[in-house]
Amino acid sequence: MKTEIYSPALSLSTAAKDQFAHDIIAGLSQNQKTLSSKYFYDGMGSKLFQQIMELPEYYLTRTETEIFTTQKAAIIAAFSAATPFDLVDLGSGDAAKTKILLRAMRERAVDFTYVPIDISPDAVQELQQSLAAEMVGLAVAPLTGDYFRALEQLQTQSSNRKVLLFLGSNIGNFPYPEIKVFLKKLRHYLVPGDQILIGFDLKKDPRIIRAAYDDAAGVTAAFNFNLLRRINQTFSGNFKLPLFKHFAEYNPASGEMKSYLVSTINQQIILQDLNFSFKLQAWEAIHTESSYKFSEKQIQELAREANLEMQVLFTDAQRYFADIIFNVS
Ligand SMILES: C[S@@+](CC[C@H](N)C(=O)[O-])C[C@H]1O[C@@H](n2cnc3c(N)ncnc32)[C@H](O)[C@@H]1O
Repeated sequence: MKTEIYSPALSLSTAAKDQFAHDIIAGLSQNQKTLSSKYFYDGMGSKLFQQIMELPEYYLTRTETEIFTTQKAAIIAAFSAATPFDLVDLGSGDAAKTKILLRAMRERAVDFTYVPIDISPDAVQELQQSLAAEMVGLAVAPLTGDYFRALEQLQTQSSNRKVLLFLGSNIGNFPYPEIKVFLKKLRHYLVPGDQILIGFDLKKDPRIIRAAYDDAAGVTAAFNFNLLRRINQTFSGNFKLPLFKHFAEYNPASGEMKSYLVSTINQQIILQDLNFSFKLQAWEAIHTESSYKFSEKQIQELAREANLEMQVLFTDAQRYFADIIFNVS
């Protein structure tokens, strides 16, 4: 694995840190201990995710990049861009794929403002810097924070039509019942005429899926371990990383890809700053990420329930991934 030099992580706001603390205590107090995957992305987590996207096993980025590269003209045409609009990128990360669309939209003189939203202050700052260097004059209005808090803020500062992007199959990171809730909630922030483009990872050979989350070079394992390192650093914790194993399994019946950190011994974890401690048994697992894989029938069902009309579906040559534009009516 490449060694990188990381700049110091940007600090979280007090509200974001309180929410992080609350979610850790709630998740680790359950019978099935859980940590939310949204906390993977501090500065180092975002860098590790960039490395994951380059892995041979991680087909998700490659296939969605293929879709954008080969079908960008049709995607942009489908944004029905007669009036100025906000292109809102939920969980923008490094926006490597979004940049394919941004460049093509600039070439076509489309009138839009790019609104990247990310919970990671480091990711937002780096994206702002890279856009300023690569796309001089692009209208950019970034927001740092959780999806819905950021969307609330956007409502107070812009009345433009919205085209939402939710790429990289981020939608699969919610458990299936929560996906329905998420889409319905998202729908509340939108009005008729708005659109959403969502990237869905499709069901395929289970071995191909599992390998994407358990790569040979161990980058995904390092990404998973980084969550413990981040908790140690933020709340003076005593997680000892070598006492855990990364484990990933895909269930082709439920469509759920799950990642865990498994304790190899009986141990007590103390998070000093939170005045919180808990015990882990040998081989007890902390669930750290779910990544749901979809059939086209399930996507249609989700859209119907959220009152979204499927406008057009784009897919790659192998039908591994689908980017779908939904109309809000
Ligand atoms: C899997 S990466 C995807 C990045 C990019 N959209 C792509 O497709 O390559 C997920 C990104 O979403 C951000 N994220 C995760 N949960 C979030 C939340 N609840 N609110 C805002 N951003 C979130 C992470 O910080 C990370 O940059």
